[in-house]
Amino acid sequence: MKLSVIGCGYLGAVHAASMAQLGHEVVGIDVDEAKIASLTRGEATFFEPGLPEILASAIATGRLRFSTEMSDAAGASVHFVAVGTPQQRGSYAADLTYVDAAVNALIPFLSDGDLVVGKSTVPVGTAERLAGMITAASGAQLAWNPEFLREGFAVKDTISPDRLVYGLPAGAAGERAKAQLDEVYATTLANDTPLVVTDYATAELVKVSANAFLATKISFINAMAEIAEVTGADVTQLADALGFDARIGRRFLGAGVGFGGGCLPKDIRAFTARAEELGRGESVAFLKEVDKINLRRRDRVVDLVVDALGGEPFEKKVAVLGLAFKPFSDDVRDSPALDVAVRLHGLGADVTATDPEAIPNSRRMHPQLTFAEKLEDALRDAEVIVLVTEWNEFRHLLPADVEPYTSGRTIIDGRNALDPVAWRAAGWTYVGLGRP
Ligand code: UGA
Repeated sequence: MKLSVIGCGYLGAVHAASMAQLGHEVVGIDVDEAKIASLTRGEATFFEPGLPEILASAIATGRLRFSTEMSDAAGASVHFVAVGTPQQRGSYAADLTYVDAAVNALIPFLSDGDLVVGKSTVPVGTAERLAGMITAASGAQLAWNPEFLREGFAVKDTISPDRLVYGLPAGAAGERAKAQLDEVYATTLANDTPLVVTDYATAELVKVSANAFLATKISFINAMAEIAEVTGADVTQLADALGFDARIGRRFLGAGVGFGGGCLPKDIRAFTARAEELGRGESVAFLKEVDKINLRRRDRVVDLVVDALGGEPFEKKVAVLGLAFKPFSDDVRDSPALDVAVRLHGLGADVTATDPEAIPNSRRMHPQLTFAEKLEDALRDAEVIVLVTEWNEFRHLLPADVEPYTSGRTIIDGRNALDPVAWRAAGWTYVGLGRP
C-alpha cells in the first residue's frame, strides 16, 4: 500500500520505517528540514536500537523516503498522523497545535476514499472533532489507532505489537476503514496479534488509561517503598512476592527514583486535565497522588546523597551514573536521573554525570552540568556514587570496578539495580530505595 506518515519524531520515524519494512511504500513528512535531511541519509535523530538498520534497508529498497512537502502525501491511500502532543505551557492539558496543523495541512491533499489514521496520544474527544473537519472538507475518513511502543523496543513494538486497537466511525465508513487498516497490518494480524475494534472514544482512552495504569503501578510500589523505609521492610522482596500473583505480575513493580520520559508524566497530567473538563475530575484524582509519589522519590534520592555527605553537599564530589529516563534511550525529557543531577548541582555539590547515550541531550538542556564520557572520569575522587539509570554497564558494577577511582565508599542505588550483599561485603555503605 502507499502510506504517508505525518510527523517524523520518535513515533513517526519508527512507524514509517517499520511500515516500509512490512512491505509498504511510505513517505515520511515533517516540517523540520534538518530531521528530514538526516532521515533521508538513513540516520535517526535519536537513539533507538534497531532503527538505523531498518531505516537503511527500507531506504535502499526504494520503499521509504522522507519529505518536507505535505503535497508528497497525495497519492497515498492511508495517512498516519504521528505528531507530538506535549504538555501545554501554563497548564496540564495536552497541546493539540501540532495535530490540528498536521490535519489542516493534509486535508487539501486527501482523495476520496483515503483514510487518515490518528496515532498521536490525544485527549478523548479529539478524534470526533477531527473526523468532522476531515469528512466536511474531503471524501476521506478518520480512524484512531493508538500506539503502545516503548522507547528502546520501539521497532519490535511496532512490527509485533501485543495488540492492535482500531477506533472507527460507525456504519459502512467504519467497515471500509477497518478493511484498509487490516490491509496495512496484514502481516501483523497474520501473526495472531489480538485486535480490538471499537469507537473513537474507547480507542483514545485505551492509550491514556494504559499509561495511567502503568504509572499507577510504579507509584504503588514506590509508595510501598516509602512504607518500607519506616518499617525496615525490603520493597524488592515485597515486589517479588506480589509479582508471583499472576493477577498482579512483577513487571512495572521496580521501585526506585520513579518514572519519567515523554509519555507517562505528561499523559497522566493531560488525562487529569481532560477529566476535569468533562466534569469527572474526581474519577482520576488519584493520578495526582501518583504524580506526587513519583516526584517524592526524586527528593528522596537527593536527600540520601546529602545525608551521605554529612548534610553538607557544597563542593563535595558526587558521581551520577545515568541521565536518560531509562536504559536503551537517549531521551532526557522529564528524566528523574537528570533531575537528580541538576538538583545536586544546585545544592553546590561538585557533580560529574555520565550516561552511555544521553550526554548530548543532557548538555543541551543543562549546559551548567559537568559530564564525563568515561565512567572512570565520572567516578574520579567521588565521595558518593548515585546510580539513577540502570544501564547494564552500571547495574553490573562491582566494588572492585570503582574502588581505583573513588575517594568515598558510599553508593546510593536509585534503581535498586545492584547487589547490596556484594557492596556491603566489600566495606561499602550501600543505600537502596525502600530497602533496609
Ligand atoms: C511508555 C509505555 O510503556 C508505552 O506502552 C507507551 O506506548 C509509551 O509510554 C508512549 O506513550 O508512547 P516509555 O515512555 O518508553 O513507554 O517508557 P516505559 O518503559 O513505560 O518506562 C517509563 C518510566 O517508568 C521510565 O522512567 C522507567 O524507568 C520507569 N519505570 C518502569 C520504573 O520506575 N519502574 C518500573 O518498574 C518500570
